[in-house]
Amino acid sequence: MDPARVRQAVPPVPGVPESAGTVPQEAVPYNPGRSTRRLRETAAALRSSVKPEREKSTSIAMGEKNITVSGDGWYRARMAETFPVADATDWAVDLYEADGSEEKIWLIEPVTRRRALFKPNVRHDNAEQADHWPEKLASEVAGLLGAPRALIDLATRDGRRGCLSYDVKPAYWQLQPGYVLLAELLGQHDPMDKRHEGHTLQNVRIVLQEYDHPPGFTGPGSFNAFDTFAGYTVFDALIANRDRHPANWAVLLGPDKGDQRLAPSYDHATSLGFSLTDADRERKLRDTMEWKAFLHKGTAWRFEGCRKVPLTDFAKNALNLVSPEVRGYWLDRLEACAKDQIEDLAALVPEMSEVARTFAVELVDANRRRLLDG
Ligand SMILES: Nc1ncnc2c1ncn2[C@@H]1O[C@H](COP(=O)(O)OP(=O)(O)OP(=O)(O)O)[C@@H](O)[C@H]1O
Ligand SMILES: [Mg+2]
Repeated sequence: MDPARVRQAVPPVPGVPESAGTVPQEAVPYNPGRSTRRLRETAAALRSSVKPEREKSTSIAMGEKNITVSGDGWYRARMAETFPVADATDWAVDLYEADGSEEKIWLIEPVTRRRALFKPNVRHDNAEQADHWPEKLASEVAGLLGAPRALIDLATRDGRRGCLSYDVKPAYWQLQPGYVLLAELLGQHDPMDKRHEGHTLQNVRIVLQEYDHPPGFTGPGSFNAFDTFAGYTVFDALIANRDRHPANWAVLLGPDKGDQRLAPSYDHATSLGFSLTDADRERKLRDTMEWKAFLHKGTAWRFEGCRKVPLTDFAKNALNLVSPEVRGYWLDRLEACAKDQIEDLAALVPEMSEVARTFAVELVDANRRRLLDG
């Protein structure tokens, strides 16, 4: 089908830009009390009460199966409530973050006094890259999978869009990035090394030996840090996150001896097809070859010798390094991440085009099946 027809058949939802990253959106009042679960329940209730206007939806042939870009009314019904967009303009500055490749600041949320890292969307030649919704949707998918992660709010500050990544450190704890642990193990470790020498699953397992699972982990209490890290590799494969370099995982050190834990996962901006244009997404969705090629580009290249290893195979390798119980746990959790659950989450994320939503949902679904099949 001609891409123009897809656009015509799926008129933009009022208030949601067709192509996120180009049209400024007014921030809605910040309401940190609204829980994801309540929003998801509301979306589910709306879906069953307002009969979806499926007849208005557009079918795209994707290989042997048809996928559906839903009709306007259907998404509008599901999007009656969305995740809030916080206005962080007046939040006090705590610190300028030195780590990471882009400018970021730590802010203090005025009501709860929680610290949050404001990550403004990056600009390339004056065009804004929408990194904020991938962070938000990825964090919500991690919640569904049960992988401990940084909580995210979409946000604006001084008119700039971005997201807030709430501090994963409990009060008086410190975060130590993975490359410091690898340097201790190997004598030296260069996090910028192009070959990622020393960044292997085996070494990660060794350096995490003395560490417990992250705070907030809701799975079995017997899980150690590496058991949870294996879950991060499953999560990365699910959302096609190619950026798990050794500054993008860390441990937490508390005030007491023995307070040693894996940190919840953070920095998931480079996932869910974040850098594609909507035209790219449409093309990949309708062309089987392009779709498969895109799936195969999701490699674990941030690990030594894994430039061509698909993230899904890498996750399976990690699951082979843990006990059958741990492996079974993550596979069970994957079963819970069914497509309609991901659709519900995607429907709650504002500032995301419908094609970006469809693409993200299909991507997670395809990767989930790749992880579960064999
Ligand atoms: N939620 C969080 N809680 C605590 N520390 C965090 C959190 N998010 C990020 N950080 C710290 O800030 C650093 C930079 O943040 P982040 O990794 O999100 O940005 P980035 O610029 O996208 O990084 P990269 O260089 O990997 O692209 C991280 O390496 C980590 O040390
Ligand atoms: Mg980072």
